[in-house]
Amino acid sequence: MQNNYEEQINQIIADLTLEEKANMLHGMGLFTSGDVSEKGIPGLETSDGPMGVRNQFPRDSWFPINLSDDFVSYMPSNSAVSATWNPDCAYAGGKALGEEARGRGKDVILAPGINIKRDPLCGRNFEYMSEDPYLVEELVVPMIKGIQEADVAACVKHYALNNQETNRLWVDTFVDERTLREIYLPGFKAAVQKAGTYSLMNAYNKFEGVHCSANKRLLDSILREEWRYDGTVISDWGSVHTTKETAEASMDLEMSVTTNFDEYFFAKPLVEAVEKGEVKMEDVDAKVRNILRMMYRLKMLGPEAANRNTGSYNTREHQEAVRNTARESMVLLKNEENVLPITKERVTMEPGERAPKKKRIAVIGRNAEHQHAGGGGSAEIKALYEISPIMGLKTYLGGNVDVVYAPGYFIPGKKEDVNAVNWQETSLERQISRRDFMGETEEQQKQREEVMKARKELREEAVALAKSADEVIFVGGLNHDYDVEGWDRDNMKLPYAQDELVEALLEANPNTIVTIVAGSPVEMPWRDKAKAILWCYYAGMETGHAFTEVLFGDVNPSGKLPESFPAEYTDTITYKNGEFGKEDCVTYKEGIFYGYRYYEKEGVSPAFAFGHGLSYTTFGFSDLAVEALPQAGVVNEEADLEKATVKVSVKVTNTGKVAGAEVVQCYVSDTECSVERPVKELKAFGKVFLEPGETKTVELTINNRGLAFYDVESKAFVVEAGEFGIHVGSGSDKIAESAKIFLTK
Ligand code: BGC
Repeated sequence: MQNNYEEQINQIIADLTLEEKANMLHGMGLFTSGDVSEKGIPGLETSDGPMGVRNQFPRDSWFPINLSDDFVSYMPSNSAVSATWNPDCAYAGGKALGEEARGRGKDVILAPGINIKRDPLCGRNFEYMSEDPYLVEELVVPMIKGIQEADVAACVKHYALNNQETNRLWVDTFVDERTLREIYLPGFKAAVQKAGTYSLMNAYNKFEGVHCSANKRLLDSILREEWRYDGTVISDWGSVHTTKETAEASMDLEMSVTTNFDEYFFAKPLVEAVEKGEVKMEDVDAKVRNILRMMYRLKMLGPEAANRNTGSYNTREHQEAVRNTARESMVLLKNEENVLPITKERVTMEPGERAPKKKRIAVIGRNAEHQHAGGGGSAEIKALYEISPIMGLKTYLGGNVDVVYAPGYFIPGKKEDVNAVNWQETSLERQISRRDFMGETEEQQKQREEVMKARKELREEAVALAKSADEVIFVGGLNHDYDVEGWDRDNMKLPYAQDELVEALLEANPNTIVTIVAGSPVEMPWRDKAKAILWCYYAGMETGHAFTEVLFGDVNPSGKLPESFPAEYTDTITYKNGEFGKEDCVTYKEGIFYGYRYYEKEGVSPAFAFGHGLSYTTFGFSDLAVEALPQAGVVNEEADLEKATVKVSVKVTNTGKVAGAEVVQCYVSDTECSVERPVKELKAFGKVFLEPGETKTVELTINNRGLAFYDVESKAFVVEAGEFGIHVGSGSDKIAESAKIFLTK
């Protein structure tokens, strides 16, 4: 089969003129590549993105067509998917996304985004998965497989080191080789080698002085030669800056944000460069070949074309998949004195003088009603529907509970011209600053006092309402003015004076349930006072239902943090070394020691640790057994790294009264090693569902790579003889049992 279409591809290439080839290598629409219709070659229809298939744009304008047929399922963000720690959720989400993309007639879906969460302030963290490369790998592979089953190409992005938004088009990135190999590349490598992604998007930024779109080291040496990638590389929109240099690197398809399609670097300028002998025809042919190969794989060409998946969108199955992931993604950060779940009795009417008395629930905070689907940048979605938390609560509780709402905090308006300018069109202009774009209007600045007054009034109104209620639920957090493409956050604080509000609510009612809807960590200075804190990433169109089910205990929370939540931003290593958010050049001086790898090394306690998440039941771990297989540590060639080498088994018992799920997390420490290793690193995990009293044995395997580090001398992953610690538990800070293995060479 493979040879079959390689042969046909060669014939097609032989039959194409230079102009026709160039046509296939650049955008002829904002989301469409050029076709060669006379020779039966279609263009590629691409679409964002990670949270569902984006609305339809005209070929040459960033203002949506406003059709009534492009509403879609709003999928959980990748941060929510990762919080499930469940590869089945990643697969189901990918499957739904692929089917919806195909249903909307797309060939390539510009997802998933998997850049490592190096710093909590990165504006696009909500779109990304985790700070941990192993967790990324385990989730990205099933997600891509799910997408591609629908005959749609995943486009894993942004390759590589796109870990900040500040000056994202020009910032130059430097990272040492070991860190690159251990932290920033594994997700992409797994996407290529384990998931077989059909396409990949290069990042905007530079790496070692060269833009990622033309970076021969990333594209040729690593991606094509080492990883043997034969799929398509698509440029991030507007990330190409040269013709010759980019043509000579393995980047295939140039897409951009402007409508002068014929002037793109891979349009007329490419034809001229080949004619002048500056660019070789074989480089052009290689790109055309990569694109045609993807088209055959997608059944866009060839005998299989009639059997291509038709796709579907807004199906009940997709809605169900979204809801399941939303349920599993909610992370219970704190729960004292059984404040949660809210029991039926707490909301049941009580006998009154004449008629029964309704219980009153005060829901405070703008995120209770805010719908997030339409924001965030290219991840924006035109959702068929989005159930907000208050909608979820009201539909669940019905008419016999008095659900009252107060916004609680004030969100200043945006400049009027924001709607007149499409951010994406202007996103390539270097000077654009967040303040210019979405800061307060002049009038608002003048009215600062009024703003303060409004805040105070809203706070007082909310506190009064809280005092009048039987239950108080605060729903605050961030929105896509903060979790957004193109800008990083300035700090990790809750905006809009929410901290004051939470303090006031806790004062008024110490049992206030604090819930935060956000895509990236925030400081929670009141966290010691709050008895219950529920964290909810942007979890898609069913958020409000899942949120309510968790609050009322119909769903037992089982989400775990896929990233550390530092107590304060100043605790992060990137704050301390000053190497985040710089404009010109960022050096990852911390190496592999960021996130939990840094906090554990330095003994810094985060507010909530990587892997943390509570349940309404309790779990006990026992009988940890660890066995090193004969091939453990034997790495003669790259393939040996993937061999299962350590078997771990542990018994997990649900020791509480309700059914629930626990994520068994397995960390490895390399206690005897010639290089400094983290205190421990995640290398296996499994989610297990248990009825009350039930015990299951969870078996996990660690492969050689789980024991290895990247050795810069030999330019390879190596496992050194000696002692390794194997630790299992329910969070990086909750290790229940540990064992040792010894490897001798
Ligand atoms: C983003 C990509 C996105 C592309 C197309 C760029 O601004 O970085 O992630 O896929 O636009 O909308």
